[in-house]
Amino acid sequence: MNETLKQYNEQVNQQLETSLPSPQGPAERLFSAMRYSVFNGGKRIRPLLCFAAAEAIDKTTQATSVVAASIEMIHAYSLIHDDLPAMDNDNLRRGAPTCHIQYDEATAILAGDALQALAFETLARIDGVSADNTVELLRLLSTLGGCSGMATGQAIDLAGTGNALSLEELKFMHAHKTGALIEASVLMGAVATGQADRKQLAALSDFAQSIGLAFQIQDDILDVESSTLQLGKRQGSDLANRKPTYTSLLGIVEAKQQAADLYSQSIESLDIFSEKAATLRFLGNFIVNRDY
Ligand code: IPE
Ligand code: IPE
Ligand code: MG
Ligand code: MG
Ligand code: MG
Repeated sequence: MNETLKQYNEQVNQQLETSLPSPQGPAERLFSAMRYSVFNGGKRIRPLLCFAAAEAIDKTTQATSVVAASIEMIHAYSLIHDDLPAMDNDNLRRGAPTCHIQYDEATAILAGDALQALAFETLARIDGVSADNTVELLRLLSTLGGCSGMATGQAIDLAGTGNALSLEELKFMHAHKTGALIEASVLMGAVATGQADRKQLAALSDFAQSIGLAFQIQDDILDVESSTLQLGKRQGSDLANRKPTYTSLLGIVEAKQQAADLYSQSIESLDIFSEKAATLRFLGNFIVNRDY
């Protein structure tokens, strides 16, 4: 990771530290579970995309950190729930026991609930962003995290378990369960600057949709090709759960080709930004070449 990204990583961690409640009082166990699932070594890709999008439009500010932290809270909640026995039933995440193993199922459900609510509370308290743009940030996160995004994608994932989906259906599922929050990250980073015009937002949306789908294809590939140690999560979980994935439908070679094509498309979408999108391009490359 280069110096700029390291700094962004620290900034979002600092904001998360400020926003998450201290583990004390009558809900100490809940607050502790929330912290456990946020501060356990995620790649912070979504926050970094948020900072990089702000850079592409104008510059990063304190508001960027707030937006980035709120998105990471939604992501952390999605992982806690994704790992539950009723969903993917995984016991390892980021090299450590999943939230429901370390605590218990009820606490894990509540930690997810509370992180989701805290994400919106954090956004609603943002400084340095106009009222109109604050509403737009809330709209983006609620839409892309919910019925028009992640929750819908996860519902299709669960309903599709054990079934053969068509490529179109699989693409729709991946674009929703993972692509949507990636798109929210990029668009919200841009909107929070207050300087983004329609054409720029459309280009960023194209970039994010391509790279967001590629992100989940790479996740499917790693589930086959990597190791539990390298991933910090159970390798082969998709196969064990009979999940519909790009690798199960298309095979590993074609899945890699699709990810590579989507990466090229995503980079083309950034043409209008010239050098200002250098960090976004770097992250796009990381997403398809990462090995964890
Ligand atoms: C994992 O996301 C879940 C998916 C949407 C594929 P990440 O690979 O970004 O997970 P962390 O945050 O780095 O652990
Ligand atoms: C997760 O997809 C997507 C989410 C919205 C959490 P996966 O189920 O493939 O993610 P991992 O592999 O468990 O991280
Ligand atoms: Mg899942
Ligand atoms: Mg999973
Ligand atoms: Mg996966």
